[in-house]
Amino acid sequence: MKKIHKTKFADHRQPPLRIPLWLGIGLAGLLAVAIILLGLLSVSIMERRWEAQRPAMIVQPVDAWEPDNTKWGQNYPHQYETYLRTRTADTQTLFGGAVQRDYLEDYPAQVILFAGYGFSKEYLQARGHYYALEDVKNTERLAYPFQAATCWTCKSADVPRTMNEMGTAAFYAANFHDLTDRITHPIGCVDCHDAETMQLRISRPALVEAFAAQGKDISKATLQEMRSLVCAQCHVEYYFAEEPRNYLTLPWKEGTSVEEMIAYYDAFDFADYVHPISKTPIIKSQHPDYELYRHGIHAYRNVACADCHMPYRSEGGMKFTDHHVQSPLLNIANSCAVCHRWSEDEIRTRVESIQTTVSDAMVKAEEALVKAHFDIAAAMQAGADAAALAPLRTRLRHAQFRWDYVSSSNGMGFHAPQESMRILGDATRQAQEVRIEAARLLARHGITDPPSYPDISTRQKAFEVAEAFVNNAPIELLK
Ligand code: HEC
Ligand code: HEC
Ligand code: HEC
Ligand code: HEC
Repeated sequence: MKKIHKTKFADHRQPPLRIPLWLGIGLAGLLAVAIILLGLLSVSIMERRWEAQRPAMIVQPVDAWEPDNTKWGQNYPHQYETYLRTRTADTQTLFGGAVQRDYLEDYPAQVILFAGYGFSKEYLQARGHYYALEDVKNTERLAYPFQAATCWTCKSADVPRTMNEMGTAAFYAANFHDLTDRITHPIGCVDCHDAETMQLRISRPALVEAFAAQGKDISKATLQEMRSLVCAQCHVEYYFAEEPRNYLTLPWKEGTSVEEMIAYYDAFDFADYVHPISKTPIIKSQHPDYELYRHGIHAYRNVACADCHMPYRSEGGMKFTDHHVQSPLLNIANSCAVCHRWSEDEIRTRVESIQTTVSDAMVKAEEALVKAHFDIAAAMQAGADAAALAPLRTRLRHAQFRWDYVSSSNGMGFHAPQESMRILGDATRQAQEVRIEAARLLARHGITDPPSYPDISTRQKAFEVAEAFVNNAPIELLK
C-alpha cells in the first residue's frame, strides 16, 4: 500500500518551484515594506480618530473640578451635543425608555410593599442624566426639613468639587437643603472624566471604598472595566451608614450577590423602615444595576455598560462615543447589532420576551409578598406574640429584599435573566413559607378560615389600605 501510494504521489507531483536567490530576497524585502506601510496606515487611521476626538488645540482649558458641561463642550462638541440629548424625555419601550412611568399605577401591590415609606407615595421610572438634579429636587420623598446631603451624591457634577471643599464625611453629614446653592449642575463630564487627560476616572469615594472593603484596588481596573465602573459610581445598591453620619456606603464587604448583601445587612440588623402591616424590618433595595449585571452573560463575556448604553456613533465622518445614555432598544443598530447579526426586530422581541418572563415572575412574587404581610398581620390580630412571629418576619424581610433587588434594578431583568429568575423564585418561595407558617399560627389560635384580604387592585385603593395601618387603625382581617 505504502509503496503504491508513494509512487502515485511521485507520479503526480509537480516539479518544485525554483526561484533565484535574488528574486527571493527581493520579494521578502517588498513584503516587509508592504507590512511597514500597512502598519503606518493603521496607526495614522487611529491617530486621526483620536485627533477627531481630541481637539488640536484645547479651545477652553477646563478646571479640574469644572461642573459646567458647556465649558467642556467647547473642547468636545460631539460628546457634549450627544450628552444634551439625554434631555429627550418622551421615548418609551415595553418596560423602559425615558418617560417617567408611574410604577405605583402599574404595580399597585408595590404601594403595600412600601407602605409607610416614601416609595409608596411616589415611585417613577428614571429618565435621562440631564434631569438628575431637577428630579431629585422635585421628589416628594425629600419634602422634610432635614434630608441627608448624601442624596445629592449621584445627581450632580458639583459633587466632586463640593466634597473636595468640605471633606467627604462633612458633605454627607450636611443638610440637603443647605447645599442647594452650591449644587446647581446635573450629572456631567467631571463625574466620569479627568479634566486634564480625559481618561475615565472614579469621582465618587463610595465605590473606591467598597472595592477596598473587598480587598480590591479600583485603580488597577482595566479600561474595559472602567467602561462599567464609571456607571457603578451611581447604579448600585447603597445605604446611609449611621457612623460617620449618613455616610454613603455600598454593602459589598461580603460580596455583591443578593445573599451576600442580606448577610451584610443582617449582621447589624439594618432596616430602612418597619413595615406598618406586618411590623417587619425592611431593607429597601436601590437599583443594584451593576451588581445584577455582573451575573449576566454579557459581563461574563466582558461586554461593558458603555458597549450597550454608550456605543460608538459616526457623524460627518467622525467616530466618537455617543453620550446620549439611554435604553439601547432605542439605538439597536449601533449597540446590540454591532455584535449580534440578528435583525433589529429579532433583537427587540428577544429582549421583550426575556423581560416579560421576568416581569411575570416579579408580579407573582409581589402577590405572595403582599399576602405574607397580611397573613402576619392576621396572626397578630389572632393574638400571636412577637417571639412566635420573629422567624416569619426575618424570612419575609429576606424575601422582600430579594424581590426588590430585581424589581428596583433597571432593565427588567435583561442584564442577568437567569439570576433574576433565580432570585424571584427564592423570593416567592420564602414568602409562601411565611404564609404556611402564619396559617399554622392562626390554626394554633383556633382560626382555620383564610384572612379576608383587602382590595388593593388600584393605586388609590392600595394607598387607603396602607394608610389605615400607618395610622394605627388596621383593617380587620379575621372574619
Ligand atoms: C448587553 C447590553 C447591555 C449592557 C452590557 C448593559 N445594559 Fe443596561 N440595558 C440594556 C437593555 C436591553 C435594557 C432594557 C431597555 C428597555 O427596556 O428599554 C437596559 C436597561 C438599562 C437601564 C434602564 C433604561 C430604561 O430606559 O429603562 C439602565 C439604567 C441600565 N440599563 C443601566 C446599565 C448599567 C449601569 C450597566 C452596566 C453595569 C448596563 N446597563 C449594562 C442593555 C445593556
Ligand atoms: C457617565 C459617564 C460619562 C460622562 C458623564 C461623560 N462621559 Fe465621556 N466618555 C465616557 C465613556 C465610557 C467613554 C468611552 C471611553 C473609552 O472607551 O475610552 C467616554 C469617552 C469620551 C471621550 C473620548 C472620545 C470618544 O468619543 O470616545 C471624550 C472626549 C469625552 N468622553 C468627553 C465627554 C464630555 C465633553 C462630557 C460632558 C459633556 C462627557 N464625556 C461625559 C463616559 C462619560
Ligand atoms: C453621577 C451618578 C451617575 C452616573 C455616573 C451614571 N448614572 Fe445613569 N442615572 C443616574 C441617575 C440619578 C439617573 C436618573 C435620572 C432621573 O430620572 O432624573 C440615571 C439614569 C440613567 C438611565 C435612564 C435614562 C433613560 O433615558 O431611560 C440610564 C440608561 C443610565 N442612567 C445609564 C447609565 C450608564 C450606562 C452609566 C455609565 C456609562 C451611567 N448611567 C452613569 C446617575 C448616574
Ligand atoms: C460587544 C459585543 C456585544 C454587544 C454590544 C451586545 N452583545 Fe449580546 N452577547 C454578546 C456575547 C459575547 C454573548 C455571549 C454569547 C456569544 O458568545 O455569542 C451575548 C449574548 C447575548 C444573548 C444570549 C443570552 C443568553 O444566554 O441567552 C442575548 C439575548 C443578547 N446577547 C442580546 C443583546 C442585546 C439585546 C444587546 C443590545 C442591547 C446586546 N446583546 C449587545 C456580545 C454583545
